[in-house]
Amino acid sequence: MGKNIMEYETVDLDDEDLSVVIIDQTKLPGTVDIIKLHTAREIWDAIYLLKVRGAPAIGVAAAFGIYVLAKRISEEDSIKNADGQGDFEIFYRKFKEQKDYLNSSRPTAVNLSWALNRMEEVCLKAGREEKKPVEEVVEILHREAAAIKEEDIRVCKTIGEFGLGLVKPGDGILTHCNAGQLATSKYGTATAPIYLGQERGYHFRVFADETRPLLQGARLTAYELHASGVDVTLICDNMSATVMKNGWVNAVFVGCDRVAANGDAANKIGTSVVAAVAKRYGVPFYVCAPTSTIDYDTPTGDEIKIEERPAEEVTKMWYKEPMAPEGIKVFNPAFDVTDNELITAIVTEYGIARAPFKESLEEIRRKKEEGRKKGRKE
Ligand code: MRU
Repeated sequence: MGKNIMEYETVDLDDEDLSVVIIDQTKLPGTVDIIKLHTAREIWDAIYLLKVRGAPAIGVAAAFGIYVLAKRISEEDSIKNADGQGDFEIFYRKFKEQKDYLNSSRPTAVNLSWALNRMEEVCLKAGREEKKPVEEVVEILHREAAAIKEEDIRVCKTIGEFGLGLVKPGDGILTHCNAGQLATSKYGTATAPIYLGQERGYHFRVFADETRPLLQGARLTAYELHASGVDVTLICDNMSATVMKNGWVNAVFVGCDRVAANGDAANKIGTSVVAAVAKRYGVPFYVCAPTSTIDYDTPTGDEIKIEERPAEEVTKMWYKEPMAPEGIKVFNPAFDVTDNELITAIVTEYGIARAPFKESLEEIRRKKEEGRKKGRKE
């Protein structure tokens, strides 16, 4: 019998082969194709084409990716001085070029730049400040990328614990897009309360929006929840009002790609429609966000850059034949921003933020800083 999809790593590193290993999510649910990414172009394409997708998973893939590229750069003769030693400044120039290139693959999920900036910081600290040899800098990058993945698992589990406190056994939960295990290293964000509840016998009834145009809800969320034995029902995006009006949904949990400082949250296109419908029917709407997804430098949702993707995703992709007239005008934004007043709470690994979000998200930031200081002392 084949492996269950939940037994695969969403993103991994192959040290021997020096490559980033991912499940090609564009082929799911039909085929589980594990692919290896060796070059900057392959990593960039995999992120752009959504072979690896979901904000936290993109961050982990970028961290492993920049490590793989850094290791290759460190082995190039062109960075070596007359004594055969790596010159940090030449190494760093090339590292930065690759970092900027990977960072250009998708604009909305802040975890991409967050992970790459974190890798750059440790690189500069070790190489420029502490004057460590290039090989050691590369080893430090290796450890940092692994730490980003390990943290992602812990963070998602903690979000799950906080989220689980917001619902009760037997509840109906609606989710949009895929903020599941396939979007993270384990548990997912929006699905973490569902998986933890499943382990503890909560018997949730989950509704998964199919999520046009790329069908992450149908192809990925319904797939992984079903494979885990969760009671999941697939609905089209235009059915959320019906299931909420019927009283079948007690809470909505969604992931997000970037939370602005005022609590406006960008997530997969259609999320804000679900939030508006949830408000109409009095269903609490929860955004699950690791603190790596909070962008305190972006004051409101208006400043979040929304990725626009090719028209073919709407007219042709997933269909046997084009489903729209040739040459039709198409608007295909990949994300939308849910206004903070439609959000009941933002669930992070440092607790639950509620309105007024500017203050409560600042409180989350303080808790994170305290946690860091404590961690450094121990
Ligand atoms: O375009 P995608 O598939 O990367 O969009 C993914 C989402 O919108 C997710 O909800 C978000 O990244 C959170 S994943 C934990």
